[in-house]
Amino acid sequence: MCGIVGYVGKRNSQGILIEGLKKLEYRGYDSAGVAVFTSAGLEVRKAKGRLAILESNLEDAPLQGNIGIGHTRWATHGKPSDVNSHPHTDNTSKFSVVHNGIIENYLNLKEELIAEGAHFVSETDTEVIAHLIASVYEGDIVKAVQKAVKRMRGAFALGVLTEYEPEKLVAVRLASPLIIGVGEGENFIGSDIPAILEHTRNVYILNDGEMAVLTQEGVELMTIEGNFISRELFHVDWDITTAEKGGFDHFMLKEIFEQPKAYRDTMGARINDAGTAIELPEVKLSAEQIKGIRNVHIVACGTAYHAGLVGKNVIERLARIPVEADVASEYRYREPIITKETLVIVVSQSGETADTLAALREAKRCGAHVLAITNVVGSSVAREADSVIVTWAGPEIAVASTKAYTSQLIAFYLFGLFLAQTLGTQTPEAIRSIIADMKELPQQVESILARSEEIKQYAEEFAKNTDLFFIGRGIDYAVVLEGSLKLKEISYIHSEAYPAGELKHGTLALIEDGIPVIALAIQEELFEKTVSNIKEVKARGANVLGIVSEGNDELQKSVDHVFTIPKTTGLLTPALSVVPLQLLSYYASLALGHDVDKPRNLAKSVTVE
Ligand code: M6R
Repeated sequence: MCGIVGYVGKRNSQGILIEGLKKLEYRGYDSAGVAVFTSAGLEVRKAKGRLAILESNLEDAPLQGNIGIGHTRWATHGKPSDVNSHPHTDNTSKFSVVHNGIIENYLNLKEELIAEGAHFVSETDTEVIAHLIASVYEGDIVKAVQKAVKRMRGAFALGVLTEYEPEKLVAVRLASPLIIGVGEGENFIGSDIPAILEHTRNVYILNDGEMAVLTQEGVELMTIEGNFISRELFHVDWDITTAEKGGFDHFMLKEIFEQPKAYRDTMGARINDAGTAIELPEVKLSAEQIKGIRNVHIVACGTAYHAGLVGKNVIERLARIPVEADVASEYRYREPIITKETLVIVVSQSGETADTLAALREAKRCGAHVLAITNVVGSSVAREADSVIVTWAGPEIAVASTKAYTSQLIAFYLFGLFLAQTLGTQTPEAIRSIIADMKELPQQVESILARSEEIKQYAEEFAKNTDLFFIGRGIDYAVVLEGSLKLKEISYIHSEAYPAGELKHGTLALIEDGIPVIALAIQEELFEKTVSNIKEVKARGANVLGIVSEGNDELQKSVDHVFTIPKTTGLLTPALSVVPLQLLSYYASLALGHDVDKPRNLAKSVTVE
């Protein structure tokens, strides 16, 4: 995830910016840069790759100046490169901007600015901001930023400098975190507390729609409408490790709680303003080509494969195209029938998984169009695929994948609807209704997260067992597979996931007194059948936690514990029902005293076969 640092004070800013950026390295990045106001004006240095590269460039040509902004970039719009790195400037190089987040309407703004004579050098949405501020500047940087921000749609945090008012650093927050550090004769901005913790523990936390104007002498807080705000300083007493995790005990928990934002960012501008259609210009398939698709293969590993199983359901039901989902390490050895009319979708958080990459290459060799769903813009998978849907979950640090998985689900919903609208397999009303429900998902996840204590209690009870079962039917089965993997991965409790109707064909023999069974009974059309399967395990003494949609109170009579999730369209339920399962494995691992973020024997990215 991108990182922002800014400084204004009496000291030379270069070192403070670089040290601040180093403190944000844990968030992941692919390039870095700084802009400093020097005696020669606003000077920018930026470089693709690790911060050490930027540092060595700065050693050769240091920057002297006591006001500056710095950035570590995690690519979203445009590949990782020197030119796409931040800060970005306008054509006069008098305005410089660092930015976290996404400007959804950047293409419209870009066209407008080009028509007015702006010349763009990068592929980023951020460059639009620098040109926009320059175009509305009339001698007051605060007013110019306010004007520009009102024209921008999306979620973002900004740091802005101009050569015309070299004593001011302007910061804005709209749904992307930003804090202001208050020192003695010096002030700071940071996208995260670790960036400034070395210099001050007194901070203002900006809320959405707020901005700050920093000078050496002080900080003014106001809304983006220009109304001044007075606020108490917040004293940070976290150590640096706690601060890196945003106050959460582990990256995994932080990432679970980041899911509402990841959903919003991944949907972003891909849903039109009216909420009636999906826009995916990144899918390089014409309507004619889409109509020619005879079958779809989804190929991935681990959690990404589980997202693919949901994707199979989504595409088949919405677009009525046959889909096969394969584990990547098996795919190319089973001699799959891939033709030019096959669409192959590879799913990979890292974009570097060796087996997934090999499957992608095999599909391309056979002439199929390869669509990648990945979280890393410049990754091998992203570079080699024909089309790429980026999941905007931000870097995932915990080995156990959570927000990347759910963002992959969102990508499948978007793509399934996109196919359906192109093929006419769903009515416009049906598409509109699913889109409306998708937009509700982030706040529905928030409501589940607010009840995490309930899950913690079940997890502590279940963690006393050595074996555990998950059951579900239909799309719920795909979700329990992911719940079971998550539990094994970080708690080391043996668990198995079964289609609920399949238990009696063998596995039921393992159910005895007190064995925990976690049953998903979310799908309306399968509810009664799942309840019958739950009764089968209950009759053999299982201790059952049922997870149901609100309103299905009937289940309470058949199980020991119930956790309800908000109601939504059946196909969308995995984006909600997986959240209690993620929390369950997190709290079970915690109860057992394991290293949640770095489970034994596992690596975040598996680059060997
Ligand atoms: O980076 P990828 O999505 O390609 O990784 C695939 C799997 O290795 C990954 O999902 C793994 O299963 C996770 N650690 C599970 O939490």
